[in-house]
Amino acid sequence: MKFSSLNLNGFRLFYLLLFMIPAEIVAQIHDTAQIEDIVNDFVNLKKRGANLLGLCPFHNEKTPSFTVSPTKNIYKCFGCGKAGNPVGFIMEHEQFSYPEALRYLAKRYNIDIPEVDNETARESKQLRESLQLINVFAEKHFIENLVNTNEGINIGLSYFKERGYLEKTIEKFKLGYSLSEGKALLKLLEKNGYKTEYAAKIGLVGQRDNRSYDFFRERVMFPIHNLSGKVIAFAGRTLSNNKKTPKYVNSPESEIYVKNKVLYGIFQAKSSIRANDNCYLVEGYTDVISMHQAGIENVVASSGTSLTDGQIRLIKRFTQNITVLYDGDAAGIKAAMRGTDMLLAADMNIKVAVLPEGEDPDSFVKQHGHSGFEQFISNEASDFILFKIKILLKDISNDPIKKSNAIRSIVESLSSIPDPIKRSLYIKQCSQLFEVEEGIIISEVNKLQMAKIKQYNRQKEKENNSQPPPNSNKSPQLDEGAYYYPEEDDIIPEYDVPVINTEDNKHLHLLERYIIRAMLLYGRNELEQGQAVIPYIIQDLNNAEIRFDKQIYQLIFDEFSEGLVQQKLLEEPHFLNHSNMQIAKECTTLIADRAEPSENWFSLHQVIVTPDGKHFKREVKELLDRYKLAKLTKLLEENQEKLKQDLSDEEVIEILQIHQQLKKIQAEISKRLGIVIM
Ligand code: GTP
Ligand code: MN
Repeated sequence: MKFSSLNLNGFRLFYLLLFMIPAEIVAQIHDTAQIEDIVNDFVNLKKRGANLLGLCPFHNEKTPSFTVSPTKNIYKCFGCGKAGNPVGFIMEHEQFSYPEALRYLAKRYNIDIPEVDNETARESKQLRESLQLINVFAEKHFIENLVNTNEGINIGLSYFKERGYLEKTIEKFKLGYSLSEGKALLKLLEKNGYKTEYAAKIGLVGQRDNRSYDFFRERVMFPIHNLSGKVIAFAGRTLSNNKKTPKYVNSPESEIYVKNKVLYGIFQAKSSIRANDNCYLVEGYTDVISMHQAGIENVVASSGTSLTDGQIRLIKRFTQNITVLYDGDAAGIKAAMRGTDMLLAADMNIKVAVLPEGEDPDSFVKQHGHSGFEQFISNEASDFILFKIKILLKDISNDPIKKSNAIRSIVESLSSIPDPIKRSLYIKQCSQLFEVEEGIIISEVNKLQMAKIKQYNRQKEKENNSQPPPNSNKSPQLDEGAYYYPEEDDIIPEYDVPVINTEDNKHLHLLERYIIRAMLLYGRNELEQGQAVIPYIIQDLNNAEIRFDKQIYQLIFDEFSEGLVQQKLLEEPHFLNHSNMQIAKECTTLIADRAEPSENWFSLHQVIVTPDGKHFKREVKELLDRYKLAKLTKLLEENQEKLKQDLSDEEVIEILQIHQQLKKIQAEISKRLGIVIM
């Protein structure tokens, strides 16, 4: 099997990441991480009795209400209510997924995460590292050219100076210059022992007729960095006015550069995006740089193309709010608007601002500065949907065909909005602006949504039918391409949850079994704040109005509840000697199988169940979350099933609303578990 392909999807990566962190290491990380250390890296803490106190990093406050309890190993903010353990803090603060947070903490505490022992995987990792090193070398070389060669200073540096770039800006973005000589970089690479073949792979070296040459020549160089600040590609801008020379040339895609997952400037912008809870999206490299220089650092560029899903997810790690800046030439606006339905679908709040005629962000901030820009944004930025409606309205005049086309286009956007409340507010506004009855728009939106769901179902059905029979006694197989080693910070934040066969309820029943097992084996242990496991589970499931699917488990659960009413936490003997033989038998096997949970259980169901219950606190919470997720999946399926019937508009809306609500809960639980369901 070959593992060279980069074509991975989230599903494989999810497995990969789990496989790469063995359960005992996960447990070790949880045990080692000290909340006060972790928080201290980000928040100024002062001692206050047994606890520590500071300003909450998750909301704006002037008096500290963010509390860290070293003894409980948790943090809690009494202002915004956020709370959790060290892993949770890192997930929340860095917007990391669960595995990413674990990796972060492992590194922080020098805990080794053993690598998957696979030769091909190692090789591919080595290749990536080698390519990376060449890029770093080239980046240095280009900088060196810019500041230390006559050509670089006279042509490159003077160009940047002319554009008004300060030295610190040039340094911040590691701007450089590629010499006119045809083999300047190539020769240096050879001299330093780098493989020409590798340099060609990442596009630094071109090859033709058995001859090699520098790909970038006489251009000012813009390195493109990934989230962790490593250079993964370059863009070179020509300084010639020759219309035949392309203004920019770029590195090709490679093992280390996947275009649609990268945004120019994200490394330099990420902390500012989080701090401002907003991200500006511009078109060009120079727009990003000029805005930084003007003190607006929460800005990234799509580099002239329309936004991709991967790019949106990148932004979404840091904020839900995005402000798209359009150049004032109007021509591009409609084309650029195309990518924005995807932002709506991703549940981002989108604002739009169009710069004055003939201006781009670069020229605008140069002329008006930081405060001019902010004023402009506060006056001009408008909500995306309303913006789109207004643009479309301009075109309509009194042409009914144009009008219906415009409405169709808006309906398309509206149907992408996942939040039903937001959607209905927009529908109202839309009906007023277009002077069309609200009911008509609602029914059009519903039709489209229904079509989308149906299509989704059809596709899913098709996929299910074409699936090969499951490989029973093997753990999930990693397919070709699975061994893509993400950069530490580069790990894609969202994963598909492994497809668990819910049809035969096996997964559901297993989870139920382990919940009961937890109640039996360590039900009397304290879970939190003086509450034991048994009442915690009972309360949690009752709150969610969940009943067990398998009758025997519900029976045992009822027994525990009954005991609780009499203020008793029932113990093993009660069940082992039970008059109901079925209960006695089930509990006997459960207790006899103390050491039952295996590695396989972990890889199949992603719940860490330790034989000795050492980590029972986390275990119980995760079990309950996993169980709720499994229940939700079932409910969602049942709800969607209903759409196949012949329904009235009201019924469809009701079903869709239930769907949205279930999805929302699903998202919340998934987030807690560090997974995202696509
Ligand atoms: P300046 O003209 O120096 O201000 O550059 P700019 O970054 O503002 O470029 P412009 O507004 O013309 O284009 C916006 C973005 O589109 C650029 O930053 C590039 O990412 C991309 N782009 C523009 N021209 C080209 C080109 O010829 N080739 C490629 N690959 N990309 C281009
Ligand atoms: Mn420009």
